Amino acid sequence: MKNRFYVVGTVPAAVDHPSRDSDCSTDHAHNSGLYVDLATEIDALLANETDVTANLANAAAAIFHGLSDLNWAGFYLAGASGLVLGPFQGRPACVRIPFGRGVCGAAAERRQSVIVDDVHAFPGHVACDTNSRSELVVPLIRGETLIGVLDLDSPLLARFDAGDQAGCEALASIIVHHLGSALPG
Ligand code: SME
Repeated sequence: MKNRFYVVGTVPAAVDHPSRDSDCSTDHAHNSGLYVDLATEIDALLANETDVTANLANAAAAIFHGLSDLNWAGFYLAGASGLVLGPFQGRPACVRIPFGRGVCGAAAERRQSVIVDDVHAFPGHVACDTNSRSELVVPLIRGETLIGVLDLDSPLLARFDAGDQAGCEALASIIVHHLGSALPG
């Protein structure tokens, strides 16, 4: 599908075990195993720490180095008037993104994951790294409260599919579980 940008699925409200089998097609079978391993790694990395910055920093590093073909992986946290840059791996990025602006702001406002196959075709895309060609953003939600978003950028067109969405939503659940009570929600 060309120039795909759409909202996919819903964000799990509860903290699920990450190793659940997805209903991915065989195309995604490899990704499914990869995300199970990544979920296990992140769960272990964050398990004994409650510091928000430390946990988000380690999660960003694990994702950035655990997934192929990424040029940016990290977090934006929800503030009073929009998203504010959090821990990440990659080139320096835009610090503040209003709710509803760009891919991150859209995912935050809709509280749903967004996959963009071609960022140049996404109205209002916020260009932080000119190498980025496709993007996946997954909201972090605790209860009814938006905590922020997990943002992945790739230099490849159409890098992300439904398997990545399911895998990253599982990772987001684990990360939220380990953020402690320092953040809203
Ligand atoms: N491209 C994003 C902004 C964040 S950077 O990709 C790190 C957006 O459109 O929201």
